[in-house]
Amino acid sequence: MRLLVTGGAGYVGSNVVWALHDRGDDVVVYDNLRQGHREALPPDVRLIEAELGDDAALDAALGDGHWDGVLHFAALSLVGESMQRPFHYLTENAGLGIRLIDSCVRHGVGRFILSSTAALFGNAENTPITEKTRIDPGSPYGESKLMIERALHWADRIHGLRYACLRYFNAAGADPEGRSGEDHRPETHLIPLVIDAALGLRPEIVVFGDDYPTPDGTCIRDYVHVSDLAQAHLAALARIEAGSVTYNLGSGSGHSVLEVIRSVERVSGRQVPMRIVERRAGDPAVLVASSSLIREETGWTPRFGQLDDIVATALAWRKSHPNGYGNAG
Ligand code: UFG
Repeated sequence: MRLLVTGGAGYVGSNVVWALHDRGDDVVVYDNLRQGHREALPPDVRLIEAELGDDAALDAALGDGHWDGVLHFAALSLVGESMQRPFHYLTENAGLGIRLIDSCVRHGVGRFILSSTAALFGNAENTPITEKTRIDPGSPYGESKLMIERALHWADRIHGLRYACLRYFNAAGADPEGRSGEDHRPETHLIPLVIDAALGLRPEIVVFGDDYPTPDGTCIRDYVHVSDLAQAHLAALARIEAGSVTYNLGSGSGHSVLEVIRSVERVSGRQVPMRIVERRAGDPAVLVASSSLIREETGWTPRFGQLDDIVATALAWRKSHPNGYGNAG
């Protein structure tokens, strides 16, 4: 397949690009490299370095031959930041995402895969969260992805665009072959921060609240390995031949912030200095996925079911890249 991948140099995007490249697809990445890294990509993959909001550049990319599909990862993705800059998130994510869908329709692209999110669900009444769970985003970030999902619904209904909305729970880990890992600047995600605290690359981890209605009082998340997410994109691309789909994607088990810290301690053999602070705005107490639908419809199964195995790949990548991309140790 010939595929255009927006945000393909980012954390999840680059792992998906490697999976597509491994199976021989012709992949072109469209990325502004603000969060993404050239070094995260296979060396022979073409990179168009441009803004999603640059209409001329996007038009030129989509007009350059036939595309079998577009995979859309380019987005702002921080729940906490979106509570501080709501309209920035809504205009950048939803606005540009919807314009991208419009461009795809105009250029005759037939397939679209959206990097969506568990943040659509806010504080869900029941877990695990299925595709039928009531949608109620707890943050402008979640809302912005919901708007793109709705635009895709209309793009299919009116123009026949086949799509998959993949609602990731907490993407974690690194490529087991060490080709791509997590390097956000600044880093705000729990697992890489806890690993850095274990390795002495930062003084401590601060835990955002221990008064949530969970067994140990800290938030529970469903950490899913980024390579498993990548395989889910391949499965979804095949499945949408039969019609558009929306899938929740997690490993199916929840872990609290304190359990993540204990896992990093076990896997690294080092103690993690920690301190409890106030809650972070916008954080739901529990987000755990039911991924039964994608399992049933595509046969997808996560290879990394255990938190320690996910943490081990993230730790190995960080040890080989103590300064992130560009400065491999
Ligand atoms: N946390 C801490 N201390 C930190 C960082 C995080 O206690 O220094 C806690 C958070 O409060 C949260 C948990 O660890 O309870 C996970 O936080 P992350 O920032 O790693 O991830 P989020 O759950 O906030 O969000 C991530 C992605 C979103 C996605 C969401 C889906 O960043 O894009 O998972 O669940 F929508």
